[in-house]
Amino acid sequence: MMSKGKESELASTEEILAEMERLKKLIRYHDHLYYVLDNPEISDREYDRLFKRLEQLENEYPQFVTADSPTQRVGGTALEKFEQIAHATPMLSLSNIFEFQELTDFDSRIRKLLGIPGPVPYVVEPKLDGVAVELIYQENLLISAGTRGDGTVGEDVTANIRTIRAIPLSLRSHGPFARTSLLEIRGEIFMLRSDFDSLNRDRDDAGLPSFANPRNAAAGSIRQLDPTVTAQRRLRFLAHGVGRIEGASAKTQLELLHGLNELGIPANLEHTKLCHGVNDIMIHYNTLNQLRDQLPFEIDGSVIKVNSLDWQTELGTKSRSPRWAVAYKFEPMQAQTRILRIEVGVGRTGTLTPVAIMEPVQVGGVKVSRATLHNQDEIDRKDIREGDVVVIQRAGDVIPEVVRVRSEFRVSNSHPFKIPDHCPVCGSEAVRLQGQAAKRCLNSSCPARLKETIKHFVSRDAMDIEGLGDKLVEQLVDKGLVHDPADIYYLDIDILASLDRMARKSATNLINAIDRSKKVSSDRFLFSLGIPLVGATVARLLIQSFGSANTISKKKADELTLVPGIGPEVAQSVVQFFAEPTNVKMIERLFYAGVSPTTDFGPASTASLLKGTTVVFTGSISIPRSDAKRMVEAAGGSVGSSVSRKTDFLVVGEDPGSKLQKARELGVKVISEEEFKTLASVS
Ligand code: IVH
Repeated sequence: MMSKGKESELASTEEILAEMERLKKLIRYHDHLYYVLDNPEISDREYDRLFKRLEQLENEYPQFVTADSPTQRVGGTALEKFEQIAHATPMLSLSNIFEFQELTDFDSRIRKLLGIPGPVPYVVEPKLDGVAVELIYQENLLISAGTRGDGTVGEDVTANIRTIRAIPLSLRSHGPFARTSLLEIRGEIFMLRSDFDSLNRDRDDAGLPSFANPRNAAAGSIRQLDPTVTAQRRLRFLAHGVGRIEGASAKTQLELLHGLNELGIPANLEHTKLCHGVNDIMIHYNTLNQLRDQLPFEIDGSVIKVNSLDWQTELGTKSRSPRWAVAYKFEPMQAQTRILRIEVGVGRTGTLTPVAIMEPVQVGGVKVSRATLHNQDEIDRKDIREGDVVVIQRAGDVIPEVVRVRSEFRVSNSHPFKIPDHCPVCGSEAVRLQGQAAKRCLNSSCPARLKETIKHFVSRDAMDIEGLGDKLVEQLVDKGLVHDPADIYYLDIDILASLDRMARKSATNLINAIDRSKKVSSDRFLFSLGIPLVGATVARLLIQSFGSANTISKKKADELTLVPGIGPEVAQSVVQFFAEPTNVKMIERLFYAGVSPTTDFGPASTASLLKGTTVVFTGSISIPRSDAKRMVEAAGGSVGSSVSRKTDFLVVGEDPGSKLQKARELGVKVISEEEFKTLASVS
């Protein structure tokens, strides 16, 4: 194996190609482990290293870049509109059933049509709540992908589908479908609940409207004209069938799913079961229904399919749905109840969030008494008032929502609800900032905001202080023992032991947990500060580039935006945070108490913004090109001679050439010589 950064040592073309192939295989393998099996073997850091190494080689030998390279997932420019794509065989829909009786009818019909007295073998699969797509592989390469559309013609979303790392760009040659000349795979694009939640949190922080449920988020993401947006949305895919297959065949649905899996296509075999007759189907239907809340994604029923593909053909289709399959839906996650009153809560950044307090009601097996109303626009749009009878909906672990008001039951003296102009906790003025949906309390020492700030600071993805739960945080703030996050590190064991529901033992445990948290990674530390718009991902990006919160605190906004993925709003928010003397003081007190963040991205001095990047120069600059080249290389980057999609920065001197135009066309970041010098010296 070759050491990093020594491409020139690769003597022959064969060696170069072999190394590139090895890296591609390895990256695909780790993508599959992460995005399909949810069981990664290496750290993000190690993965990035493999990826960068492949990028470097491809930069040096662009003639060897293949369309199925993992580096080629996100590419191209934003589309004006989607092209249409026709499905060679129609993408059917399923008829729904809701009752056991309908299931028995379905089974009797099938036995009658097939002339079979005994139990029919069926495959029972979960019905994923996502967006149906078709992927077309020709000679094992993904060549196009389309949405279902009206079943006959959909939209060409190939560029977006290519960004989904659960979907292989080329198929493995394993199993019965190895080396098919044409394979049309149908399945569902969806989003994990956890990814949906964090997407909505980020959108909320950025003042953008949130998605109502993971299905809408997946649908919105796959219909983005700009594939770079889709690439950030963490979409998943599971196959549930095929269209045309040329060059291979299968006998049963189960064999088909296994065969797809062997090609590296994810199919949900874990929750799929072969069942014989209706009683057997019911058992698996009930199992899935019970699992429903624990699954990482949303399902809204089970799909029952005749297992034999010959029998499927024999049964055929009726109008738009097959006779051989049916969707047996679960109980809806909706219910009706009355809003008793509307309360307004205050979040960490001061956002006032209205919450409906309702008469308790069972929804999909869970007792519910609160629903989020999001913001004033949402309340106005649905005209939600205190005392209203409403239809509410629950989706997984997400806080229930009001779907609509049953206005026919509205009491005559009701009036529209307005979020107050003052913070309900501290009484200071609440303002709606320009371009944002929510009103905010701007008093940074508002006790409600402080409680949320502390809860965030100690949470699992932040400082991870075990034993410091919500109730305890509230007590500490209410009793005036904690005024900012740093105060946690100055708590006294005797005081802790004297608090409600605390004893000597639990106080000792807590002190130990607080002590342990002092050794935190720098990205978690930055995240825990609760800087608006700085979520876990942004914190990681910033630390990867600058090494420490301390360095970041000294940066100007235009230095921060040089980091790919950091936009002007985020940069502004970071600068604003560190410009606030109370924040700086608080951080100093954290350090004084012994909090010492460390970075696992190597020592700060080697963390450079140019590490792993490709820089191209155009026009004349004030230093010799050879010096500039040395600066790039010393910082861990490489210099390219022409602008391509893989160029990270184009440095523009005086009288730039045609490279500038090219960079603009490709959306490559263009920087001045001054900016380049800053980048090269940042460590
Ligand atoms: S089979 C003819 N299997 O439900 C067979 N569909 O209305 C059609 N869906 O458009 C699809 N999970 O998007 C099938 N395990 C599953 C499914 C599934 C979700 C969706 C699919 C389809 C819709 C049917």
